[in-house]
Amino acid sequence: MAKSYKIAVMPGDGTGPEVTAEAVKVLKVAADKFKFKVNLTNFDFGGERYKKTGETLPDSAIEELRKFDAILLGAIGHPDVKPGILEKGILLKARFELDQYINLRPVRLYPGVETPIKGKGPEQIDFVVVRENSGDAYTGTGGITMKGTPSEVAVQSAVYSRFQVDRCLKYAFEYAKKNGKKARGKGENNTLALCGKTNVLTFIYDLWERAFHEMGDKQYPSIKREYYHVDATCMWFVKNPEWFDVIVTGNLFGDIITDLGAMIQGGMGIAAGGNINPEGVSMFEPIGGSAPKYTGKGVINPLAAICAAQMMLEHLGEEKAGKKIEDSVKYMTANKLKSLAAGKMGYSTSQVGDLVAEKVAE
Ligand code: IPM
Ligand code: MN
Repeated sequence: MAKSYKIAVMPGDGTGPEVTAEAVKVLKVAADKFKFKVNLTNFDFGGERYKKTGETLPDSAIEELRKFDAILLGAIGHPDVKPGILEKGILLKARFELDQYINLRPVRLYPGVETPIKGKGPEQIDFVVVRENSGDAYTGTGGITMKGTPSEVAVQSAVYSRFQVDRCLKYAFEYAKKNGKKARGKGENNTLALCGKTNVLTFIYDLWERAFHEMGDKQYPSIKREYYHVDATCMWFVKNPEWFDVIVTGNLFGDIITDLGAMIQGGMGIAAGGNINPEGVSMFEPIGGSAPKYTGKGVINPLAAICAAQMMLEHLGEEKAGKKIEDSVKYMTANKLKSLAAGKMGYSTSQVGDLVAEKVAE
């Protein structure tokens, strides 16, 4: 019998619904072609619903979402809602409550895509960031005292337990073993680089560094290990992106370096990520945000959302379907799109979706 996947679809705000519609279009075609089923359920969490009901992502929704095989997210963020409310109330709540402790962010330059980095192409820009997604400054540990007085003090702590670090490292080593450059026939080694700040954050990145080498020595001796400070990582992303294979880092540094990564791979039109709980329900998203000014115009690039669907299928074990979607996206960037930027693609949002879907069906 054909496999069937229960997918929760959360289109969200702004251009989220437009790009999600194209991702769903491609997903359905891939399901037909590769003989599996997708059973989709829509959820309207986002800014509009919050404005009407005051509700972000209620606990009952979390319980509901646990029953799905995966979640496909569009974008969260509304111009009328104060920054922080929807991010914390929906995106971060889903990540934390569903314990999606990995944020997986491939940084791949596809053929035909322009990178701001001179002299570098798809051969050089081809790496993956494994961002820890549950700890660090994101835990809300801290507070403000004497608020509103001249003596007020704010503290927000970067928090890591050995447990959090170890489970993230385990995922990263396994990922490097399976998908590193050697495993993909592209290099002499599978390399895992730790990105930290051991010269200043001498507590948390000391923990990361010790755990990294202990696990590497004991369980993954064949994987080459490297270490970079986070500031140097930014430098080398721009100067020598070809040095990188798989990078593992904490939540906050990961947040920052993956935006830099998105830019060198061609921008928000193409960058996708997965919030992964290897033992639970994972959520896949284009990382670009809701782009309110383009809402309803049919000009936004849906490729990032389509790539999120691709990552979702790979995660679910439909690797052939994922590969076919990726190849179809590459075909589009190499042969069709004039630019990845909104309004400059030479096609509308739905035309891009149609073309990818046609290619997947071939
Ligand atoms: C991301 C985003 C989020 C984060 C925001 C919207 C809370 O920037 O997914 O990278 O900081 O993790
Ligand atoms: Mn971010």
